[in-house]
Amino acid sequence: MIIECRLGRIIVEREALNFLEREVDRIKPSKVCIVTDNVVGKIWLDNVIKYIKGRDVEKVEVKAGEGGKSLKTLSMLWRKFIDGGYTRKSLAIALGGGVVGDVTGFAASTFMRGIYFAQVPTTLLSQVDSSIGGKNGINFHGKNMIGTFYQPSFTLIDTKFIRTLPYEEFLNGMAEVIKYGVICDRRFFKYVEENVEAIKNREENVLNKIAEECVKMKVNIVLEDEREEGLRRILNFGHTFGHAIEKLSRYRIKHGFAVSIGMSMACGVAEKLTGFPEKTQVLDLLKRFDLPTNARIELDSMVEEMVKDKKAWYGKTVLIVPEEIGRVKVVEVAKEQLARILKEVMASA
Ligand SMILES: NC(=O)c1ccc[n+]([C@@H]2O[C@H](COP(=O)([O-])OP(=O)(O)OC[C@H]3O[C@@H](n4cnc5c(N)ncnc54)[C@H](O)[C@@H]3O)[C@@H](O)[C@H]2O)c1
Repeated sequence: MIIECRLGRIIVEREALNFLEREVDRIKPSKVCIVTDNVVGKIWLDNVIKYIKGRDVEKVEVKAGEGGKSLKTLSMLWRKFIDGGYTRKSLAIALGGGVVGDVTGFAASTFMRGIYFAQVPTTLLSQVDSSIGGKNGINFHGKNMIGTFYQPSFTLIDTKFIRTLPYEEFLNGMAEVIKYGVICDRRFFKYVEENVEAIKNREENVLNKIAEECVKMKVNIVLEDEREEGLRRILNFGHTFGHAIEKLSRYRIKHGFAVSIGMSMACGVAEKLTGFPEKTQVLDLLKRFDLPTNARIELDSMVEEMVKDKKAWYGKTVLIVPEEIGRVKVVEVAKEQLARILKEVMASA
């Protein structure tokens, strides 16, 4: 599948790496730099470079993990671009998960007010979510506090990378995959339900279909609302709870796992607010992927964290709650109402 739109050219194909050289050539870059992390670098970098035969490619490795999304990494990348004589016609390719994608995208968007940028995502989460939509950034006095919206020239999604992904990272991405089914596509939710074993076995045709469907959904949402003023907010289903849980656990609970608990809580809220009848079905699917649906959390701290969420623009907490699988609505609640609902949800969890 190739999508050509304001968000760049997006290629989701088995063996998509075969398209890499052609996509680079289309840009006619003066220089090319692949930015990766030290884990992906070891496993994949040499292999990927073989797909760009006709030109010199520079490489740079950043520290793997969330700590790599820092001012230090950013300044290292800017320095590399300056020392290497990069110009506005140079290209930075992010090869890695969301961390590499976010920090490279930010470096590319700010260096000389923007050089060419491309994404080759290697985690399930980055293939179905973070590589699409143009958000980037670094952590600075808080997660994702500094960043820009900057679209890549191309995004190349090849599910063969998923083969080497640790199981926990794979599940991390699956939470986002299930999210798409709940927020906007009942048929897709069913497809995931019917293919749990094949997905867990990482069968490439199934992963490719999943990536295609998720990318299409994300593209449609972002095209309608690039700057997250309306529809794009539905992508935060489970995330307002999830961010609070991540933070309260001092980031010991991974993002996807926290989002899984968050989605379960949002389903609980939906049951109370809208009479959502399919909570058990959503929780069952999460459990089949070994994702958690519950955690011991202290109510008051949870409420405090949720009201601080950076998407609570006008003082009200934004919750995304399903009406049925495949359809959600945005609800804004004041602190007292949030505390009341959460108390009920946590008591019945
Ligand atoms: N920009 C956005 O729209 C957006 C959306 C969601 C999340 N994010 C950001 O994404 C980040 C999380 O991304 P992530 O979950 O991809 O994590 P990550 O980039 O930290 O990757 C997870 C781990 O897997 C390793 N890895 C990556 N690909 C591999 C492969 N193919 N084989 C073996 N190991 C591999 C990495 O080295 C790392 O250790 C967070 O910083 C989050 O804020 C951004």
